[in-house]
Amino acid sequence: MKKYNVAVIGVGAVGIEILRSLKARNFPLDNLRVFARSSREIKVDNDSYQVEAIEGSEFSGIDIALFAGTEGEKGASVLYAQKFIEQGAVVIDNGNDFRLQKGVPLVIPEVNRDKIKTHKGLIANPNCTTIQALVALGGIHKALGLKKFILTSFQATSGAGKKPAIGLWEETKQLVENNKTNDFDHLNKEIKGEPLGFSHQIAFNVIPQIGGFGDDNYTSEEWKVVKETHKIYGDDTINISATCVRVPVFTSHSEAIYFTVRKKATLARIEEILKASEGVVYFSDSFPLPLEVEAKDEVYVGRLRRDPFEENSFWLWCVADNLRKGAALNAVQIAEELIK
Ligand SMILES: NC(=O)c1ccc[n+]([C@@H]2O[C@H](COP(=O)([O-])OP(=O)(O)OC[C@H]3O[C@@H](n4cnc5c(N)ncnc54)[C@H](OP(=O)(O)O)[C@@H]3O)[C@@H](O)[C@H]2O)c1
Repeated sequence: MKKYNVAVIGVGAVGIEILRSLKARNFPLDNLRVFARSSREIKVDNDSYQVEAIEGSEFSGIDIALFAGTEGEKGASVLYAQKFIEQGAVVIDNGNDFRLQKGVPLVIPEVNRDKIKTHKGLIANPNCTTIQALVALGGIHKALGLKKFILTSFQATSGAGKKPAIGLWEETKQLVENNKTNDFDHLNKEIKGEPLGFSHQIAFNVIPQIGGFGDDNYTSEEWKVVKETHKIYGDDTINISATCVRVPVFTSHSEAIYFTVRKKATLARIEEILKASEGVVYFSDSFPLPLEVEAKDEVYVGRLRRDPFEENSFWLWCVADNLRKGAALNAVQIAEELIK
């Protein structure tokens, strides 16, 4: 079997899961290089990895580069993706920088793996909130055509990175130690000079804001769901609206999704489709919970029910590990498809 030289860029919440996924799935690795802003040795489970400082490194001979650095102008993919591509690597990027760019395939293998072959050096991984919704709805859209969906997310703190996830733990500890449930102004909000947590207390709370607000009072995270869905399903006539909420859960996002299909459909038909949908585990008589889904690869769906007032309209509840299927695993699956 051919083996590949792979680079992982970023060793935060997602990068660590990429290292775990490559190992767990026996990815045919020849040489593995790991980069971050600074060099050091890290331990993941029982394995040690030597992390190289990316600045000043050279990237020749790398076949696939899995990017999990932060976004924006100081982020790894904006600064380095092109350099990897010029040296012959195919870049698979977890961030938001290139997702909607024309000519960049935005891929969830269970939904649109055929787009991978259209790449010109860069393939984008969708946002975690979008991935799990579109895996859950993918079979339904294919069979019956989605007319609209309305999504409310309950998103884990690790979705914002390693430090915010630690922030939930630190806040909870400090509040419990002080015998309080609400004391944001007096909490220690940094560790070694780096900010922890969110702009509001997340322990014992929920925050209905993920990303910045636009003039329309939607957040950037909410628009990601709309725009990424239109690109991935290749259909911008689907009406989509989202409310994204941060909740005090470490890992796994949950979503309540209300959807209407174009063709006539019974509850039994939707159930039959969900049972056969790739990447979906369907719960017919109970429901998935974020704590149970952590470290699992699939998208878990339950609480299917029909709207008693509207035809062809239903609700479902779906849960997935945001660091696995929502990011690292999806990227590794793309790499697996690529080498096929
Ligand atoms: N967390 C999720 O659920 C999730 C889901 C989907 C997509 N994503 C996306 O995945 C990416 C990584 O997210 P994360 O949650 O893993 O973030 P994170 O925990 O904050 O980790 C970021 C990592 O990127 C490295 N990094 C940052 N800037 C870099 C640069 N210029 N060059 C090289 N390395 C750099 C950091 O290096 P140091 O360790 O040296 O500081 C760190 O290891 C983001 O684009 C995020 O939007 C995250």
